[in-house]
Amino acid sequence: MFQSIQPAPPDPILGLTEAFVADPSPDKINLGVGIYKDAEGKTPVLQCVKRAEQRILETEATKAYKPIAGDPAYGKAVQALLFGADHPVVASGRAVTCHTPSGTGALRVVGDYLKQNHDGVTLHLPGPTWANHPSVFKSAGVPTTTYTYANADVTGLDFDGMIEALAQVPAGDVVLLHGCCHNPTGIDPTAEQWQKIAETLAGRGVTPMLDFAYQGFADSLTDDAVGLHALAEKCPELIVCTSFSKNMALYNERVGSVTFVGETAEAAQAVLSHVKLAIRTNYSNPPAHGGAIAITVLGDDALRSLWEQELAGMRDRINGIRQTFADTMAAKGSPVDFAFLTAHRGMFSMSGLNKDQVMQLREKYAIYMVGSGRVNVAGMTEANMDRLTDAIVSVL
Ligand code: LMR
Repeated sequence: MFQSIQPAPPDPILGLTEAFVADPSPDKINLGVGIYKDAEGKTPVLQCVKRAEQRILETEATKAYKPIAGDPAYGKAVQALLFGADHPVVASGRAVTCHTPSGTGALRVVGDYLKQNHDGVTLHLPGPTWANHPSVFKSAGVPTTTYTYANADVTGLDFDGMIEALAQVPAGDVVLLHGCCHNPTGIDPTAEQWQKIAETLAGRGVTPMLDFAYQGFADSLTDDAVGLHALAEKCPELIVCTSFSKNMALYNERVGSVTFVGETAEAAQAVLSHVKLAIRTNYSNPPAHGGAIAITVLGDDALRSLWEQELAGMRDRINGIRQTFADTMAAKGSPVDFAFLTAHRGMFSMSGLNKDQVMQLREKYAIYMVGSGRVNVAGMTEANMDRLTDAIVSVL
């Protein structure tokens, strides 16, 4: 059976981490995978998480299975974070939430649910989008297509093109939007643009789906939910996938969620019954530890406020280092003006570097970024800025 199997190509993002780890260079720089790094280039466990874990260690009484949809307290905490505990969508029971193995697991659950219950539906993805999006849905058997999102040089939004494309999406299809910190471009719609997006999708039988993996990484937990709120207000149905990988730095705990909002509470419950089938035949029920951390942090005033401070610290460093990079490149006489990077949010931007330049940076300078030219700006520090900018100027 295995003799005829040919090796598959490495994953464009996680495969890069393997190459980076294997690189012996002492001053290598990783701008590849989307992991936050502090000013020392480290990805520490948040203090709020450490304290929550201490409590869990002392009070955890069993390792018995969680329900298929996860701990009800987790779903409640996620809904409160997304919508606010008293939001009409929550109060009316129109939202059902499952704890999933992070955001990728949530996307796959949606893919399985769509394939099993709405076969033939097409998922519309922004151009460009996260490299794993098309693959996740292909694995689930859900066809995907692309709608216009970024402008030609991927520095800003082609808003007119986007609205025109969204207005053409056939009824019954699903449109995926990045809730904030668009991956890979860092380009987000404004609050006014979100209103227009929601109006364009509403009333046409198109279901919006938010990939909301970076809440709190752009401007604030509430500001970043402006798109979610616009869609929840105008559209009768909504799907939201979230992750605590980034905003609680719980990357390897695999903790995320999927929320389905129905037009009625009854519809939402019916959807939930099918989503539970999709989960049961995949991973059965979610891993407990990350969910317990999120419940503990979100449910305790002191831990919650510590979390918000730590999250603000990560966000401020990223936004600051974007400016430092653009200024340093300008000071070094870069032929390209990188000021466009300062308007972007979250970890990612498309640098505009081509495949050849990306390879030169990797081979000559041990600087790693995704082949598409996507950079994780959180990998930049004051300490590596000089070496990084010199190298980029040299390949431009
Ligand atoms: C990324 O885009 O780098 C992150 O979302 C991590 C991943 O799983 O690809």
